[in-house]
Order: sequence, then structure tokens, then C-alpha cells
Amino acid sequence: MKTMIVTGGAGFIGSNFIIYMLNKYNEYKIINLDKLTYAGNLENLRSVQDNENYLFVQGDICDSELVDSLFQKHDISYVINFAAESHVDRSITDPEIFVKTNVLGTSNLLNIAKKYWEKNGEFKEGVKYLQVSTDEVYGSLGETGYFMETTPLDPHSPYSASKTGGDLIVKAYADTYKMPVNITRCSNNYGPYQFTEKLIPLIINNALNKKHLPVYGDGKNIRDWLYVEDHCSAIDVVLHKGNPGEVYNVGGHNERENIYIVKTIIGYLGENVDSSINDTLIKYVEDRKGHDRRYGIDPEKIKRELGWYPATSFEIGIKKTIKWYLDNKNWMENVTSGDYQNYYSSMYEKI
Ligand SMILES: NC(=O)c1ccc[n+]([C@@H]2O[C@H](COP(=O)([O-])OP(=O)(O)OC[C@H]3O[C@@H](n4cnc5c(N)ncnc54)[C@H](O)[C@@H]3O)[C@@H](O)[C@H]2O)c1
Repeated sequence: MKTMIVTGGAGFIGSNFIIYMLNKYNEYKIINLDKLTYAGNLENLRSVQDNENYLFVQGDICDSELVDSLFQKHDISYVINFAAESHVDRSITDPEIFVKTNVLGTSNLLNIAKKYWEKNGEFKEGVKYLQVSTDEVYGSLGETGYFMETTPLDPHSPYSASKTGGDLIVKAYADTYKMPVNITRCSNNYGPYQFTEKLIPLIINNALNKKHLPVYGDGKNIRDWLYVEDHCSAIDVVLHKGNPGEVYNVGGHNERENIYIVKTIIGYLGENVDSSINDTLIKYVEDRKGHDRRYGIDPEKIKRELGWYPATSFEIGIKKTIKWYLDNKNWMENVTSGDYQNYYSSMYEKI
């Protein structure tokens, strides 16, 4: 039995990952360390909360005493760091918490992981640390080309800058101490349990409630979409087969313009749920400050070295996702009550 700490496991990707791992393996005990910010939701983990291989600990990755005590109490083999402030819009209005969690929190986790890795097997065995990062650290692409692992880091938003800071500290621990770490940089995820501030669940939720569907700028910004279960399988592969110190880009050539995403959701809901959901709900709003134009991942390295490629095309994944939100309206109502309403009524006040 091996034990892993998964941080941020009550968030969108972290909760999908915990469910994925507990369903796939019997030999891992998973400790979910999550602060439960506005984005953390234990409801996501209801299906595994009684699993004897699962333990939830509420806490901050910046809290060295707490993190150290987890390493002391449990024989930790893996740390997978999902915990982050993750929303670009929020980073524009409140950048400091992004630096705190995404840079200092990462540094704290790594530092304690290093301490126990050094204790273990004279620097040879023990803790492997995996940093879950983003393609946004590479900046923005023009009309052609893709992000490769060797693409220079050129972040623009406070979110992507803070993720870059975290990545560079992880890289330093690999370069300096030869600590066994990996960094994964993936494209935009979508799927079940994504907080309704992100594009796809926001559009589904607003459309079902006949609210305007906000689209930044001309709607032609391009993101490369990855179904969350494919991201989970990529992390699983990197965790077990990734070469120490390496960075792996995770994506699968599913680039789409934002407006295409919005119209696809409208098309599905208009046809299957309510014919009055149509393009008139779309509202173009002032562009996000410093909005990156295009992201596109080159996934050749992870495909070639580790044999991973996503199983889900965008066309299949988006249908599965919309169906999930339709089948889980209570989940959506719960996450969109309270604080969410206050935040978004000021955020989209122009709508
Ligand atoms: N969602 C995407 O499309 C995407 C794409 C690329 C990379 N990523 C990265 O994947 C990771 C997970 O993203 P997500 O979309 O699931 O995010 P999320 O916002 O849904 O979840 C983040 C989780 O981290 C927790 N958290 C925040 N600060 C914490 C702290 N200081 N200590 C402990 N827990 C804390 C929150 O409570 C929440 O449960 C992030 O590191 C993000 O940068 C996400």
C-alpha cells in the first residue's frame, strides 16, 4: 500500500483525479489536503467519501506545520499538487492570493517533500513530486505553431505568472537537488464538477437560466480543450512512468474558438432541452485585460515517451459534459448559490 497526498482534491480536476485513482487502484491510500476555498467542494467526492483508502484533511498548502505532520504520520510516496487559485479573472482583480498559494504554497510543499525524500533511501527512493501546471505559462500563440516543452515561458496574467513561479521552483529542486519531480502542463480542462465560473459550465448554467451568455471580445480566442478524465489518465501515466525532472505537455489537438464552444452548447440545449435557448442570448462583453489569443499544445513528447494520447474528442466530451450538468442540476444550484451570486453580479455588471 502506498500513500499519496493530493492537494486541491476538492476542486474540479483534483476531485476527478481522486475518483479516477480510487476506482482504478486498490493499492493507494489518498490523502486529500484542501483548504476548501470558494472553489473546493466536498460534494464532488461523495462517491468516495466512505472509501477506506481515502482521507480528507482540511488545510492550507502554505501551512508548514500541517504539511510536515502529514509526512510524519503517513509514509508518503507521492505528492500531486493540484491546489491553486485557478481563475484568471480573479487573478486580475486580486493577484496576491495567487502568489501566496501558487508560488509560496508550492515552495512549502516541495521543501517538506524534499526533507522526507532525503530521509528516505539516501536520496534514492521515496517521495515523487508532481506539479500540475498549465499551458498558460507559455503565453500566447499566433495563428500557427504549438507550445512545446522547450517553448520559452512567457506568462501574461497574474494567474499564469504565479503558476510559472511555481514551475520554476519545482525545476530548481530537480536541477539543484536531483529531486524526482515532474511538471505537467495541460490545456483547458472541461467535464464534471467544474466550478461554474469557467466558460463551459458558466454557459450551460446561464443558458438553462435564460441569462445572457457573456463572450469576451470578438469570441475568437482559441483554447485547446481536454476532457478531464483524459487529464487524470495523463497524470497517472506521468506519475508512474515519467522520467525524473521532465516536463510533459498534456493535450490532444482540440483547439476551438470560444464562440464555437458557446454555439455548440446553445445548439445542444436548444435541440434537446428548450428550443428558446438560442444565439440571441449571446452577449459580447469587453475583452479580458491581457487576454491571450491562442493556446495550442504539442503533445508529441508524452505520446512518444509515455504512450499517452487523449481518448476523448471534443465532440464526444462536450456532449458527455452537458449531459452531466443536466443530470446534476442540484450540484449546479448548490455551487451557484451564496457567494457566487454576489461575485458574479458585480463581475458581469455590464451584462
Ligand atoms: N481547469 C483547467 O482548465 C486547468 C488547466 C490547466 C491547469 N490547471 C491546473 O490544475 C490545477 C487544478 O485546477 P482546477 O481547475 O481543478 O482548480 P479549482 O479552482 O477547481 O480547484 C482548486 C482547489 O484547490 C484548493 N485550494 C486553493 N488554495 C489552496 C491552498 N492554499 N491550500 C490547499 N488547497 C487550496 C481549493 O479549495 C480547490 O479545491 C491547478 O493547479 C490549475 O492551475 C487547470
